[in-house]
Amino acid sequence: MLITQHNNLLSVPLGSLQVPNCPPIFQTNPNGNAPPSSTQFVQFSLVIPTYNESGNLEKVIQLLSRLLDEVLPDDYELIVVDDDSPDRTWDLARSLISSYPHLRVMRRQREQGLSTAVIRGWQVSRGRVLGVIDGDLQHPPETVLKLLEEIEQGADLAVASRHVEGGGVSTWSATRRFLSRGAQLLGLMILPRVVSRVSDPMSGYFLVRRSAIAGQPLHPSGYKILIEVLGRGIIDQIAEVGYVFQEREAGESKVTWRQYRDYLHHLVKLRVNSGRLGRLRQHLSFPIRRFIRFGFVGLSGLVVDMGALYLLFDLLGVGLTRSAIVAAEIAIINNFIWNDRWTFGDLAREQREGRMVIKRFLKFNIICLMGLILKVLLLNLFFNALHLNPYVSNLLAIAPSPSGTSGLT
Ligand code: GDD
Ligand code: MN
Repeated sequence: MLITQHNNLLSVPLGSLQVPNCPPIFQTNPNGNAPPSSTQFVQFSLVIPTYNESGNLEKVIQLLSRLLDEVLPDDYELIVVDDDSPDRTWDLARSLISSYPHLRVMRRQREQGLSTAVIRGWQVSRGRVLGVIDGDLQHPPETVLKLLEEIEQGADLAVASRHVEGGGVSTWSATRRFLSRGAQLLGLMILPRVVSRVSDPMSGYFLVRRSAIAGQPLHPSGYKILIEVLGRGIIDQIAEVGYVFQEREAGESKVTWRQYRDYLHHLVKLRVNSGRLGRLRQHLSFPIRRFIRFGFVGLSGLVVDMGALYLLFDLLGVGLTRSAIVAAEIAIINNFIWNDRWTFGDLAREQREGRMVIKRFLKFNIICLMGLILKVLLLNLFFNALHLNPYVSNLLAIAPSPSGTSGLT
């Protein structure tokens, strides 16, 4: 992965949320000052996701830097990933780089969300050990040293937990406690094998070995990045360290009902993936979602083809062959757009220039040409020789053509 740094802001990785095995390659940015030393590993990368944290961030960076300068001098990095905060937390973070050389900053403007922010930060990181901590001082910075010790003693994952010895929450309302425990119970019901592995699956404060998650396709939603790591990582040994969740000093929590909805959706998604379907998919490495989308697009092509034929042949009185050819081309355009934007959108995303799209469209038409010729021949056979209904003939003619308009790739 190539990362540039411009005006002290890291470029935001695009595409899949997959952590690479090795640190990214840095391209010296146009105005010359290269980012921190190139692509060697450091021992530890700690991501700090922020949204409107300008009231807390400086203190978080100061406390973490003081602690980590002691134990990992020049061998760690702090990565703030800000989602274009209205209070310009990203700008404040950037201004701190001159005083904290291990600080790096990413400003995301096209993607939102706590868990994807953490993964984007890990994607640009150089650490052998990756971590996440909130940027609001509710996660005590000093706990990170104990988490690091656990990893050094062999844990793949070290979680700061409110529900083990030394853990707790400060003055949480009864509602918040109820909701947090309720979410945990829900997790134990839907995804027992994952959620039961830790006492605080809701924790947003943990460290994980890069090797335990590198190369694994991650699809988190909402706030709970830990269950994604537990559900998809190769996690053998888990350690937990008690901590007391602090009161906020500035700003407010962004947790809304939406995060609870996302959490439920996330649990179900992980359950499906870890069940039979998930094993089948892993076994066959079968992009089941892409396949389903492709099928839907094929069906839409069929409907478009038949509808266009009716419009041309029945309503406008155009000859059957000409109507069939035009209808087929309209279906090809329909399918190209859907497949390019939806079925294969993540792959096509990096090639969005007009010229690339036109090139793909022409290629697509050439692939479909065979199908189109076969379709017209079969249509005439069924309609003129076997005297079948024109629409039945069209339907039968579409089906077997190798890349027939309705089943376009
Ligand atoms: N980049 C980014 N994008 N950061 C975000 C977003 C977002 O959409 N939403 C929240 N954050 C940042 C906040 O700025 C803060 O630094 C951190 O994520 C946690 O957000 P809060 O809104 O303060 O969450 P909380 O305090 O209610 O809950 C936290 O602690 C719990 C216990 O560990 C979260 O980390 C929960 O996930 C966690 O369960
Ligand atoms: Mn918080």
